[in-house]
Amino acid sequence: MFAQVLRKLERELSIPQPQILSIAAGFQAHLELGLNRQESSLRMFPSYLQAPNGYEAGTFIALDFGGSNVRAAVIQLKGEGDFQELSRLSFPLSATDSRRDLRTSAVTAEELFDCLAEIILEVLQNSSVNPSLISGTSGPLPLGFAFSFPYCQQKLEEGVLLNWDKEVKTSGVVGKDVGQLLSAALVRQGLGIVVRPVAIINDTVANFLTAAYKDPNVDIATIIGTGHNTSYLEQKAPGFAAPVIINTESGNFSAAPQTFYDQMLDLQSANPGEQRFEKMLSGKYLGELFRQIVLDLFQQGLLVRTLNSLPAHWNRPYTVSGKDLAELLAGKAEVDNRSLPMSDDELFALQRIAHLLIKRSARLVAASLIGIVRHLDPHLSNPHTVAVDGSLYEGMPGYSQELIVALSEGLEGNAFQISVKLSAGGSLTGAAIAAALASFN
Ligand code: GLC
Repeated sequence: MFAQVLRKLERELSIPQPQILSIAAGFQAHLELGLNRQESSLRMFPSYLQAPNGYEAGTFIALDFGGSNVRAAVIQLKGEGDFQELSRLSFPLSATDSRRDLRTSAVTAEELFDCLAEIILEVLQNSSVNPSLISGTSGPLPLGFAFSFPYCQQKLEEGVLLNWDKEVKTSGVVGKDVGQLLSAALVRQGLGIVVRPVAIINDTVANFLTAAYKDPNVDIATIIGTGHNTSYLEQKAPGFAAPVIINTESGNFSAAPQTFYDQMLDLQSANPGEQRFEKMLSGKYLGELFRQIVLDLFQQGLLVRTLNSLPAHWNRPYTVSGKDLAELLAGKAEVDNRSLPMSDDELFALQRIAHLLIKRSARLVAASLIGIVRHLDPHLSNPHTVAVDGSLYEGMPGYSQELIVALSEGLEGNAFQISVKLSAGGSLTGAAIAAALASFN
């Protein structure tokens, strides 16, 4: 019985080599349409930033607001690809200690940005920065803000949020300029003359800058974490005389084949119809896809027969996390810290399902990267370096290997032209580099 169920799932979730090629071709087509401002699921936002030269230097504040955590740091860029964090603070967005869950619709824009200004104040107080810098007497410290959501901007210091994703729902931010919201909160915190936000950048652009600060060969940067997205250095962006880093917002790519489970998850999410690619593959959603599949098989009487029912919390969306899948794959029959009493066969079946989802995720990402490489270099005549950051890539057993295998299948004989390197935790450093680029231009 298990074998039959697994075979069916395997068929639905597998992406054979020819399909990697067709998804890559579809991605490239959407990329080129979006770049030329034609209708496309890829928004292709210019970042207004070029690649760094590695010699940017000075002291900057960096702020990073992603889907799971807020981080702030004071960073000294030393040039020649070297930097030092003078202080750093981070806290999760979900409710911990006295801080509330900042992602819910009950939280207002002012409350969220006041928290961000508070963490900036704390990180400044904890750092050993020269007091004249902190007092603002030698001019405000430039701040770079890595903001990991889709926003549009006409200049580097602005970012008008188009929509939330990764299940964040904070009120009053969509349609507003997050640069202005931050500046107003800094004034309320008494930091108006001490700190000046000069650059808003996407986390993939931040990852690009950090990786390229040390290695000029980097031309693509991707995040495979709570969410998923990729940026790359475009040589010929319409309206730009020089090469510019483009944020593709690839999580919204709409032309990958979906299963019934993907469609269900999308319908029940906070933003149906949007971010469909991200919902098929990123850390926020893999656990939920897994939960929906297992629940469905269980309800059909096909799985976990030793239990009379699945634990009650399995009926609540998003109770199974990407971390649970990582632990399951590492051999623990546990979800949400609660053990699942089941037979070896059942554990094997659950592991197999988790593995199928992870393998599919890596193959989808690989297809999108191949689409970008083919756009940059149709005959694959030059080497390309992809910088990768994100909890899923770093923490999921076997993920990075699956990505390499999929890239080599998809690039056929030219796989040697692409190298993938881990660029962990690059958002903060990248935000500081963006602040440096903004200050020197
Ligand atoms: C989501 C956001 C995107 C971000 C990605 C990774 O896809 O829309 O801006 O880069 O998550 O955090």
